[in-house]
Amino acid sequence: MCGIIARIGADDGVDRLLGGLERLEYRGYDSAGIAVENGAGLAVQKCSGRVGDLVDSVEDSGVYGGIGIGHTRWSTHGPPTDDNAHPHTGATGEVAVVHNGVIENHAELRDELRDAGHEFTSDTDTEVIPHLFERHLADNDPEEAFRQAVRDLDGSYAIAAMVEGEDAVFAARQGSPLVLGVDDDEYFLASDVPAFLEHTDEVVYFEDDDVGVIRPDDVELSTLDGEAVERSSEVVSWDPDETGKGGYDHYMRKEIENQHVSLANGIEGRVSEEGEEPDLDEFPAGTFSGVERVQFVACGTSFHAAKYGTQLLNKAGVAAQAFRASEYDGSIPVDSDTLVVAVTQSGETADTLAALDRARRASARTVAVTNVMGSTAARTADDALFIRAGPEIGVAATKTFSSQVVALSLLSHRVSLDAAEEGPWDDPAAYYDALEALPNHVESVLDFETAEEVADRFLGSDAFFFIGRGLAYPVAIEGALKFKEITYEHAEGFAAGELKHGPLALVTPRTPVFTVVTGDDDETTVTNAQEAGTRGAPIVAVSPSDHKITDVADAHLPVPDTHPDLVGLLANVQLQLLSYHTADKLGRAIDKPRNLAKSVTVE
Ligand code: M6R
Repeated sequence: MCGIIARIGADDGVDRLLGGLERLEYRGYDSAGIAVENGAGLAVQKCSGRVGDLVDSVEDSGVYGGIGIGHTRWSTHGPPTDDNAHPHTGATGEVAVVHNGVIENHAELRDELRDAGHEFTSDTDTEVIPHLFERHLADNDPEEAFRQAVRDLDGSYAIAAMVEGEDAVFAARQGSPLVLGVDDDEYFLASDVPAFLEHTDEVVYFEDDDVGVIRPDDVELSTLDGEAVERSSEVVSWDPDETGKGGYDHYMRKEIENQHVSLANGIEGRVSEEGEEPDLDEFPAGTFSGVERVQFVACGTSFHAAKYGTQLLNKAGVAAQAFRASEYDGSIPVDSDTLVVAVTQSGETADTLAALDRARRASARTVAVTNVMGSTAARTADDALFIRAGPEIGVAATKTFSSQVVALSLLSHRVSLDAAEEGPWDDPAAYYDALEALPNHVESVLDFETAEEVADRFLGSDAFFFIGRGLAYPVAIEGALKFKEITYEHAEGFAAGELKHGPLALVTPRTPVFTVVTGDDDETTVTNAQEAGTRGAPIVAVSPSDHKITDVADAHLPVPDTHPDLVGLLANVQLQLLSYHTADKLGRAIDKPRNLAKSVTVE
């Protein structure tokens, strides 16, 4: 959690620091701050609230400087107050530090430093770092002092630090993302590329244990033990325009509306010429021969996408299960015949990375399905499949869910052909025809204007339920997650058949039941919806127009008729729009819902 940035250049870089923080706000937005060096010492400016509040206070103060660090916070240790905002300084103010991660031994370090006379002004785990740095500065040059301070830490961190009078930023990484941006006459450090993408697309990803000393004209990378390391630079293919709102009121709306583009990118060149099987550069035919079972590990929306992959594999006769990564503990049997697929948009979710580590320790073969090149998951897993969705800034995952589903359908087909010599479909060409048409079908969903009307009609309901069966089930639980996440209303997703085993007790005329059907094997789902309808619940069908569910429904969110295994993706777009419009009508902070951050880097 949290976003960190540093800018290292000769001319004033405060605007670039603040711009970077605005682009990192999706990682945390309860307090923010910067520290800059301008030849007259370190100037620190920080406050609770959004980056916008920081921008106002920086403008009032006139602070400037060429070398600086910044932070936008999602609280873990201590509430979002001015004192707990980063950067943190030591006792003398000659050191300033921003940090993303969790220092696990902070309490012991704090006691030790207190015994040595250090006084603390915040509740954060981070504050020990500048104090340690300062203590080691007494006997060492700044680089060695920084290295020693970092050696004192246990836990996860991406750190950027400054020392008064030094024209350098000192950086270290262990378990939290950190990427260097290389421009002609300046450098950036950040938790994520969008922070500086408008200035440069040339990046160098820090590895765990890397320490960097970045000056306006030079970068030195070494291990924590001081051995020099070489890291090659890469060019990021994301378009800087993709990281802006592009005229939309919210990133989420833009990302929903642009998902036909991300889907087209995710499919392009990945289907065989005959249109009957996947053609993945990463995984040629035969790659997965010998795989006996597949386990998906993922959280939140990515878990819902993983459930889709599971069902396709099961249909093809391959044993597959999806696990919530935080529940993937030592009790789950995993061995070298197991393929473990970590599904993670950011590639930095701590629970998913921990599950991936567990799989690797058990000698499983691992694949990361992720959106972020250079992310920890992409670098940790044996192989990576990129979903090519482009940057997603809204905290609520939208376009990345549909891109994950597409990538997982291609991967699942490859795995099942290799491992079981059959695929999930009797007529694969029909599936691939529908897949090629998917971006156009998504555009048609956007042309329907019913989601806003339905949002209006059910505003003020007591609760919102979402049901579906088979491949519609992941869509139902994803619809409910999206709804609760951005509207703050009570929403639950259920397997349609489960409704009568308990949740039906919650159903009243004030609880609409959104029923997702795919056009295949839906009789029972229609009956389940009717069971809720006869208890007075309004039924909202999310289905193709001529589907029989519409006969029993009170309202309808239509989707184009297509292959039954892809209808759910279109239904999901309708549910994204429903959540969006409801949240908008309720005046919610759509892109930055309360208490949430996009990338959850703590377990
Ligand atoms: O980056 P990841 O896909 O690993 O993130 C997993 C979840 O934290 C994420 O999907 C979360 O549930 C979203 N905010 C949902 O919209």
